[in-house]
Amino acid sequence: MQKTPIARHLAIAIALALASTASLAETPDEAIAARKQALKHIKQTLNDILKPMMSGAKPFDKTIFEQQAMELAQQAKQPWPHFIAGSDKGKTEAKAEVWSKPADFKAAADKLEASTQALADTAKSGDPALIKPAFAAVGQSCKACHDNFKRD
Ligand code: HEC
Repeated sequence: MQKTPIARHLAIAIALALASTASLAETPDEAIAARKQALKHIKQTLNDILKPMMSGAKPFDKTIFEQQAMELAQQAKQPWPHFIAGSDKGKTEAKAEVWSKPADFKAAADKLEASTQALADTAKSGDPALIKPAFAAVGQSCKACHDNFKRD
């Protein structure tokens, strides 16, 4: 069967989309840069938007908080595919344990994903008293992983 022009365009679009996903032909240096960028975005969402609303430095806005908590839950999935084999050397603060204890590292990443999802779910309530413990749990997930897998 001959491909229509639309089918051909679709095939090209899919091929491009696949090529742009993580880990396909990513060099170790690119992987390090990509995961640092992803972690920086997480920190920005947390420190620039969510944290000030929790501390009272900025007025609590239910809509913005909920939307940004959902964004954080998405961002929390981004860094991990970039911890590829061979990216333990170079401009990285990742400890060797990331690769020697992969199950523990994955568990720590899963914990962040779960805690950010719980924050996004709780944010729907719009009640800061309920949201605060969920927010604290996210911070604990960051620290728990950094304590074991990141050099200071
Ligand atoms: C599963 C483990 C893990 C979790 C969870 C985690 N991190 Fe990290 N983080 C790392 C590792 C490993 C590095 C070092 C990455 C590198 O240098 O290659 C890092 C580096 C960073 C950096 C430095 C990025 C740069 O530009 O060098 C920031 C900022 C950061 N993390 C913020 C956070 C925040 C905020 C959270 C929680 C919301 C978090 N991380 C949760 C493992 C984790």
